[in-house]
Amino acid sequence: MELSCCGKRQKPEVKSLAVTGAQWGDEGKGKIVDYLASRAHVVARFQGGNNAGHTVMIGSETFKMHHLPVGLLYPGVVCILGNGMVINPPVLVEELEGIQSRGWDTSELYISDRAHVILPFHLVLDQMEEKYRADKKIGTTGLGIGPAYADKACRRGLRMIDLVKPERFKAWLEEALPLQNNYLQQVYGHPGISLSDILNRFLPLGEQLSSRVTDTSLMLNGYLKEGYRVLFEGSQGGFLDLDHGTYPYVTSSSTTAGGACSGLGIGPHMIREILGVIKAYTTRVGEGPFPTEELGETGERMRHKGAEYGTTTGRPRRCGWFDAVMGRYSARLNGYTGWAVTKLDVLSGLEKIKIATAYYSNGNKTEHFPSLLEDIYRCEPIYEELPGWEMDIQGVQSPDQLPIEARQYLKAIEDLTGVAIDVVSTGPEREQVIVMRGELF
Ligand code: IMP
Repeated sequence: MELSCCGKRQKPEVKSLAVTGAQWGDEGKGKIVDYLASRAHVVARFQGGNNAGHTVMIGSETFKMHHLPVGLLYPGVVCILGNGMVINPPVLVEELEGIQSRGWDTSELYISDRAHVILPFHLVLDQMEEKYRADKKIGTTGLGIGPAYADKACRRGLRMIDLVKPERFKAWLEEALPLQNNYLQQVYGHPGISLSDILNRFLPLGEQLSSRVTDTSLMLNGYLKEGYRVLFEGSQGGFLDLDHGTYPYVTSSSTTAGGACSGLGIGPHMIREILGVIKAYTTRVGEGPFPTEELGETGERMRHKGAEYGTTTGRPRRCGWFDAVMGRYSARLNGYTGWAVTKLDVLSGLEKIKIATAYYSNGNKTEHFPSLLEDIYRCEPIYEELPGWEMDIQGVQSPDQLPIEARQYLKAIEDLTGVAIDVVSTGPEREQVIVMRGELF
């Protein structure tokens, strides 16, 4: 008998690029994704929910995106919310309507049928748990992200495909809500949430979203195989990754590039380039260790000049020097093929700029990021000091126009992390970028 096989063994030639944050989120991914989305046919988010906050400035308009991929701001780009995300339907619909009312077309937004749903009791639980943790609180966004992912992992969550089928949703809620309410009442003394309130709110939302709910893995693999340019848009950052971040001060999803595979239903070879977004300094919102944090005047200056306040919660961000130990760790976790360095302009005017090159941890020098929380709290950064520059570099678009000190600083980032810089952002506007390498995908 002759065996016939039509399978192909060669690696497909895909045109794709994953963009992930390399610090604690808020690295300016929105700006970089917005810039790159001009070349994309498809932009897909793969993790997180409306805890993400991307600010994009187009001319005089400012857009704050939470659920929606930044690619939606380019006409004709297909946008996908992947199965690795958790979706809060009222927030998503409000965000969609807000963008539509400003004249943007949202018809090409699709939601994975396998994405999980954030429900009102998830928000209550998130907030109650934080209160209960008292001085050990994580500083979550309070948007129900952790509890929604916990229900998914416990195999008792609600998926988008269930939400858009009214009878299924009703049956699911009738079974799930008494358990959730029992927990809220017994553990936290909360009165619980009414079944009819949830049904009345969520049934119409399911109907509104149903035409967008589909098998997005099928769609995406089709686009990739046909050679369309696909951008995978990460949210949060590597140090908030559930497995690799500063646990438990992390979010509840896989924020590193590998998360794009499970969070979208694609094979690892479907990701060609991986761009890590890093701020020229470091910031963090919420609690948890931060080795290079500057609590004094320097940190305050960065916060003020960099407008470092959370997009989602408005909280002031903690600020500190660039940390090459973190950069190397992120590069390893993600397999970065290049960096996008943001907010370089914020460092203008400083006499000296510091970079942490290694840590002293338990009396030893280490170049690697520790896993034990206490070690991260206790470690002391070893700094290299570089000369700063006076010139205001906002809006500079070519590396030759940068002062020599700024170029030296970028070179130090490359040398210390072992990753080349592809893009430098020099201001909040779309055009305020320096492209060091040609087209990325
Ligand atoms: P959660 O994602 O709301 O559970 O919050 C967990 C941690 O992640 C907290 O420290 C939040 O401040 C942080 N976090 C969540 N989303 C973002 C983000 O988009 N940028 C920065 N930090 C975030």
